Amino acid sequence: MSQFRVLIVGASIAGPTAAYWFAKAGAKVTVLERFPQLRTNGQNVDIRTAGVTVMRKIPDMEAAVRAKTLPIQAISFVRSSGRPYGTIKPTGNPDQQSLVSEYEILRGDLAQVLYDLTKDNENITYIFGEQIASMQQQTGDDGPITVQFTGRSLPASDFDLVVACDGATSRTRALGLNCDVRDHIIRTNSWAAFFSLPPDTLSGLSKTDGQAYSAPGGRFMAAGCDPSDGTIRVSLMAVLRPKDKNKSKDDELEAFRAAMMADDPATLKQFVAQHFAGAGWKCDDAIKAMLDPSSCLDFYANEIVQVKTPALFKSRFVLVGDAGYAPGPTGAGTSLAMAGAYILAGEIHKHKGDLTAGLKGYEERMRPIINDLQKIPPLLHKILMPETLTGIWLRNTVFAFICWSRIMEFSHKFFASSFGSADKYKIPDYDWEV
Ligand SMILES: Cc1cc2nc3c(=O)[nH]c(=O)nc-3n(C[C@H](O)[C@H](O)[C@H](O)COP(=O)(O)OP(=O)(O)OC[C@H]3O[C@@H](n4cnc5c(N)ncnc54)[C@H](O)[C@@H]3O)c2cc1C
Ligand SMILES: *[C@@H]1O[C@H](CO)[C@@H](O)[C@H](O)[C@H]1NC(C)=O
Ligand SMILES: *[C@@H]1O[C@H](CO)[C@@H](O)[C@H](O)[C@H]1NC(C)=O
Repeated sequence: MSQFRVLIVGASIAGPTAAYWFAKAGAKVTVLERFPQLRTNGQNVDIRTAGVTVMRKIPDMEAAVRAKTLPIQAISFVRSSGRPYGTIKPTGNPDQQSLVSEYEILRGDLAQVLYDLTKDNENITYIFGEQIASMQQQTGDDGPITVQFTGRSLPASDFDLVVACDGATSRTRALGLNCDVRDHIIRTNSWAAFFSLPPDTLSGLSKTDGQAYSAPGGRFMAAGCDPSDGTIRVSLMAVLRPKDKNKSKDDELEAFRAAMMADDPATLKQFVAQHFAGAGWKCDDAIKAMLDPSSCLDFYANEIVQVKTPALFKSRFVLVGDAGYAPGPTGAGTSLAMAGAYILAGEIHKHKGDLTAGLKGYEERMRPIINDLQKIPPLLHKILMPETLTGIWLRNTVFAFICWSRIMEFSHKFFASSFGSADKYKIPDYDWEV
């Protein structure tokens, strides 16, 4: 039998993980990335639950991740004055994580680890600066897909399977499911911006703990120092409340989307700056440094959305990671992407010769995990981003009490149950024998 040909679109987390497992199953893999090189910006993401299980199945990956892990001691919640009123610590046990995971890693470092584990494999080819222009399914559902590319790096070619790993606003999903790019996206009325600043740009930050602050109007800022070199990592998050309940679209969110679509960081930064001006704590200083090109080291912003599609595949086209099931504010996107990539390759390999059965197996195995990790813990939004001053006062008081009265263990358990334990999902073992 000739080698199974897989085209994977997107080289972030889902893409390289899928490439690893498909190559292990004996396939010939091509990975397309729209950007001219691996994108290494973004802030810390964490690997949890099913993601930990999959990481441990890839030889040498846990060690590579550990070498890059941000040793975050704790996150302190601070008042506008900077005085902390509550602290959350990791549990010290990856199988029972709290709000702070044992595997906090910069997204770019994780993408690099996965890329390094796959780039030299003779059966995996990465092509940067390239995307799909169009594709046609040959002869019913059984034939290969013929794909045309937008650039010049590849001639039109046939593939046995096309895997979209190109994120929540996947253009490949629109091509494969024949829908609009915005279809299947569920808005959460929130967005986030992440950027890095040189050491000591913001005075008085804790050197060890991350610090988090919330201001009225659903605004949230977190900042911490990278322990290796002191680089400051800032996250800003905003939850918008539609001003007019009768209006389907909130003006502010529309403005954010317009800035996103313009693909112009300067416009986006201006928008972020306006939204956070005068919010208190270190917001103004952070914004000033963000707007200054000589101090802003990197910048990434995105709307926080969930993706929910009726099916994860159509003929020989399939969705993995944020493209198929972005979880939005639960922070489980990385773990879902890793689990999805592993299970897809595993099920296809297990049902060798019957692609549809493999794709069905993937969908069946993933649904319960997706449903669980897309569930937004009821208190998460309220705890992280209360919208009003009363909400913040109440939250601060409750938090301060929990910390002071040392019933933190209780709250750890609460968070742990919200985020799940490592073996909860019974990720299968596959026989990868080719
Ligand atoms: C640059 C960047 C920074 C991020 N920063 C954070 C962060 O700080 N915190 C956080 O929680 N999450 C962040 N995320 C999202 C997080 O990585 C994902 O939620 C999660 O890891 C799932 O990953 P994924 O591989 O499914 O999708 P994504 O990580 O979204 O990756 C999609 C990849 O596909 C590429 N791509 C997009 N369209 C096309 C196309 N048409 N053709 C080819 N390639 C395409 C993109 O350039 C990207 O490399 C970031 C994502 C990116 C791309
Ligand atoms: C690449 O694929 C060929 C054909 O299936 C196989 O013989 C070879 O061992 C593979 N190489 C690696 C590094 O897996
Ligand atoms: C919203 O619309 C409904 C019907 O269109 C109207 O009766 C109601 O008064 C509107 N509410 C506000 C706050 O404008």
